[in-house]
Amino acid sequence: MRRAAIGGVLMSLGLLSVAQADWIDDANARIEQHRKAPLTVTVVDAAGNAVPATINVRQTASAFRWGSAVNSNFYMTGGTGTNATQYRAKIAQLFNQATLENGHKWRQWEMTGDRNRSIATIDALLAQGKTIRGHTMVWQRPENLPDDVNVALSAGNVTAAVDRTMNHIAAIGSANAGRVSEWDVVNEQWAHNGITSAAHPGVPIEQAPLLAQWFNAARVADPSATLYINDYGILASNNSTNTSHQQSLFDTVSYLKSQNAPIGGIGLQSHFGSANARTSGPNLITILDRFASLGVELQVTEFDMYGSGWTPQSQADYIREFMTAVFSHPAVVGFNIWGFWDGQHFAGSAPLFDANWNLKPSGAAWMDLVFEQWRTNIYGLHGSDGAFDLRAFLGEYEIDIIAGDVTRTIPLSLGVNGTGMTVVVPEPAATIALPIGALLLGRRFRTSAVSRSRQIR
Ligand code: XIL
Repeated sequence: MRRAAIGGVLMSLGLLSVAQADWIDDANARIEQHRKAPLTVTVVDAAGNAVPATINVRQTASAFRWGSAVNSNFYMTGGTGTNATQYRAKIAQLFNQATLENGHKWRQWEMTGDRNRSIATIDALLAQGKTIRGHTMVWQRPENLPDDVNVALSAGNVTAAVDRTMNHIAAIGSANAGRVSEWDVVNEQWAHNGITSAAHPGVPIEQAPLLAQWFNAARVADPSATLYINDYGILASNNSTNTSHQQSLFDTVSYLKSQNAPIGGIGLQSHFGSANARTSGPNLITILDRFASLGVELQVTEFDMYGSGWTPQSQADYIREFMTAVFSHPAVVGFNIWGFWDGQHFAGSAPLFDANWNLKPSGAAWMDLVFEQWRTNIYGLHGSDGAFDLRAFLGEYEIDIIAGDVTRTIPLSLGVNGTGMTVVVPEPAATIALPIGALLLGRRFRTSAVSRSRQIR
């Protein structure tokens, strides 16, 4: 089924070459290798003998992080009309991760109303079991700095500006510790570096010691979040694999590592602000390989497609190509879109839904990949020997087991090392006189989930 879908991509590109076909095959092979693991179910009776059984394997969540930006002001103040209701419902249904579009930014965090809405939105998203990307501690773009920091910089009062950054990192980091799983400590250093440049005149922007101090301060404030640097134009590079912007980010991360700064990830924004910004699948892999060589995890943090040159179909084709490349790369841990609905997207062009909540072709491609192609759902699998051995996508499962008159649903978590589950089915219940609780927990049906390494000898 997946091969057919990918075949559709190639056909619609209309430029099918051997190299592209090879690339898709290689990507699918990596997906098979890195995004799946062995899932074994063994059904036996109390004496350990095989019991014929039928199972359903139902994936309820993906291990890979599928996220979106969420606008906390709209989330909290959008009211109860169709748009806000749909907005909240889609967030609940479609994503396992979220990033506040603006609610964690410095200016907003220092405005009481915005901050309270940020906190309340995160509460709601955490209650849905989502992981949260913190975005962003320091973005030296003047529009995103508090007024007093801009004033201090203009007045040449560098110490005051630097002190404000350190205090802010301590404050926002500790306030969100345990609530966010990662932080973009620094955003867009290549384009916006007014504070580091003022603090270190004449020092290359990639080697500003203040960058390392910011990462160290973030680690003190939040001991467990993965600390990222985030930037644009790295994958959305007009198909180039060797731009000065890519080099600058590479050098910045190299510098931070050389200083033992606690950097754990690189965020690749991936705003495709015109169709010309597109980078082919093979070149995406080349760029991802280069940044993965730095030994940190990678994540697409702000994907979208807007501006000139796009058609609905070319957006659908490209999101499929892009997602296939990044999902296939073992260093990539998540794919986040920068909003999902045109009504709450900074350029009015989100990947999934138009302003009237119609699913776009690019949204259909996203849905197909996230919920169909890259999940494992198998119904009615029969094993006359009670033994099932699959490769399934990593994530959370419910396994239905039907053996004789016994039907049970058991949760199972599938990690990279695989998971084996042995289900013991006893004699028919009618022959055992025990209270219901004991039947369920003790005698009637016992399961054990053990790691692959213990299961396989
Ligand atoms: C944008 C928001 O979407 C807008 O609402 C806001 O006015 C400006 O910032 N790169 C980033 C994001 O890292 O924080 C930006 O978000 C988009 C570009």
